[in-house]
Amino acid sequence: SRLTSSTSSSSPHLLRRCYGTESVPERKVAVLGAAGGIGQPLALLMKLNPLVSKLALYDIAGTPGVAADVSHINTRSEVAGYMGEEQLRQALEGSDVVVIPAGVPRKPGMTRDDLFNINAGIVKSLCAAISKYCPNALVNMISNPVNSTVPIAAEVFKKAGTYDEKKLFGVTTLDVVRAKTFYAGKAKVPVADVNVPVVGGHAGITILPLFSQATPKANLSDEEIVALTKRTQDGGTEVVEAKAGKGSATLSMAYAGAIFADACLKGLNGVPDVVECSFVQSNITELPFFASKVKLGKNGVEEVMGLGPLSDYEKQGLETLIPELKVSIEKGIKFANQN
Ligand code: NAI
Repeated sequence: SRLTSSTSSSSPHLLRRCYGTESVPERKVAVLGAAGGIGQPLALLMKLNPLVSKLALYDIAGTPGVAADVSHINTRSEVAGYMGEEQLRQALEGSDVVVIPAGVPRKPGMTRDDLFNINAGIVKSLCAAISKYCPNALVNMISNPVNSTVPIAAEVFKKAGTYDEKKLFGVTTLDVVRAKTFYAGKAKVPVADVNVPVVGGHAGITILPLFSQATPKANLSDEEIVALTKRTQDGGTEVVEAKAGKGSATLSMAYAGAIFADACLKGLNGVPDVVECSFVQSNITELPFFASKVKLGKNGVEEVMGLGPLSDYEKQGLETLIPELKVSIEKGIKFANQN
């Protein structure tokens, strides 16, 4: 087909040539939490994405303004704002991809797990609505703690009979974005060329960047690798502290969220070899969910890829993260089944 003739998923220029404007499929993307710190710049970035034909911006407050503002941008998608639960159905119906940055962010001194009580409830109710109004959509979960909110979503979908493990994604792209930036700085290589897989989960030591697989190769010392690993794991906290009470990463997260949603859309559209790291249902470790490289296709996850060869330091990191990640996953499952 036309679509499979594309040679590179990373070249928007090539893609546009291969598609031609007329043949780009209609795709609706809904952003839940669209008036928030992440939601607003994410709405902007999704409005700039030529793969989106309809953009639904939902929040409990503030969306008419955000939608009016973004809608004046002269790009392809039609934008609509939806506010309050009574408009959630309209926001969701027909969605191909639902991105969820709804919830509260961290303040200094908080872990992502401290957000659990508020965000778990928000995610649960939004996912119940997704299972009713757009059960086939790909769900991109940004709300923290991702290590628990993804299992919560899975349980909600299972109860509703709509769970498809190929369609639920915890967005860990910001960890990859950070790992790439920090590695490029240390290795003194052009940042645009860098690739680094980040596996595990999305909190503290559960974030495991695999710098041994980073490209372009660089001869970094063990100390440098340890420092890069810690900086990647603590990247969120670096931002939380610098914002000093005004929230967590929003702009870099919106960028990362837009990259991941774009990868999902490309996969749906049949672009070959679209690979991103994501926290998904997995059997590459003993845990039911795990972040690793995932190949995206017409039905969502096409393949959960293995970890590849690990250094001793990474093997040790993997061993120590598993018990912590397990607790967070179980906490999510328990919450979903109890309340
Ligand atoms: P924010 O407080 O600025 O925005 C959150 C938005 O969610 C608000 O507009 C709020 O009205 C809305 N909201 C609350 N309840 C809702 C509901 N039931 N339905 C729809 N919308 C609802 O927070 P920010 O900074 O945008 O962060 C959002 C979430 O993203 C937090 O949980 C944060 O921890 C998480 N996050 C995740 C990252 C990741 O890498 N996955 C990185 C950074 C933040």
